[in-house]
Amino acid sequence: MTDLTALTQRHAQVWSNGPFEEVADTIADVHVALVEALRPQPGDRWLDLATGAGSVAELAAAAGATVTGIDLSPRLVEVARARARAGGYDIEYEVGDCQNLVGVADGAFDVASSCVGIIFAPDHGATARELARVTRPGGRIGVAAWTKEGGVGRMFEMMAPFSPPPPEGAGSPFGWGDEEHVTALLGDAFELRFERKVSTYHAQSGRACWELFASSYGPTKTLAESLDPERREALAEAWSTFFDTEYKAPGGIAHDREYLLVIGTRR
Ligand SMILES: C[S@@+](CC[C@H](N)C(=O)[O-])C[C@H]1O[C@@H](n2cnc3c(N)ncnc32)[C@H](O)[C@@H]1O
Repeated sequence: MTDLTALTQRHAQVWSNGPFEEVADTIADVHVALVEALRPQPGDRWLDLATGAGSVAELAAAAGATVTGIDLSPRLVEVARARARAGGYDIEYEVGDCQNLVGVADGAFDVASSCVGIIFAPDHGATARELARVTRPGGRIGVAAWTKEGGVGRMFEMMAPFSPPPPEGAGSPFGWGDEEHVTALLGDAFELRFERKVSTYHAQSGRACWELFASSYGPTKTLAESLDPERREALAEAWSTFFDTEYKAPGGIAHDREYLLVIGTRR
């Protein structure tokens, strides 16, 4: 097994660790921006990759698309299915890896989307090839990706001293927030346009933000659980100080999270 395959297997556990659905609501504006930019048409065959709890899939289905959602985390696929049943959405959900979409035929979809999802897969080239393979000629793709310089990039930078280094060859999620990198990945197969946007997360304090992320956001929860109590408290302290000083706002904190919206048309 290669290092990147092992890392992807670990990611399935990381994203299953905790109720990501509690955090998904904090990026509801990104879900809406992505779906609106893709201009859903009734009957579109739509694939939402790394769908998580299914927020984008539900918006696309509500707009009349025929939607399939794929995610690496078995737990999140179960959550998405339960939400679809409760909300009356007819969406097909499957567990799968965006770097290797087993069972998905070439050109099977009119639209492929991913909201801050496929960016976490370590093999960017394989993910890009799969996007090109499953989107029909003339079809659209949309990817929302956090930038390195924005609030989420800086949050991961703050966590880095507490984290084990990634294996050699693993692409950084924030590469997908860089226009040049994305053009190198997708420019041959897609005509691309880019838009930089900001989603702001408000909380009462850095500690309140820590409590949410340490209990519900897989990467932070898994990292915190891997540390001994002293080091874990040091991370909680670094986290709180980072938000309270860098993102202080009237009444609490306002975390400005810049993202790149990538929209493409399959050549
Ligand atoms: C930050 S969440 C975003 C979820 C959802 N797209 C949203 O916007 O609410 C990242 C998601 O990417 C999924 N993911 C990570 N690596 C993946 C991979 N290789 N293939 C498919 N999904 C993956 C995780 O399981 C998780 O659900």
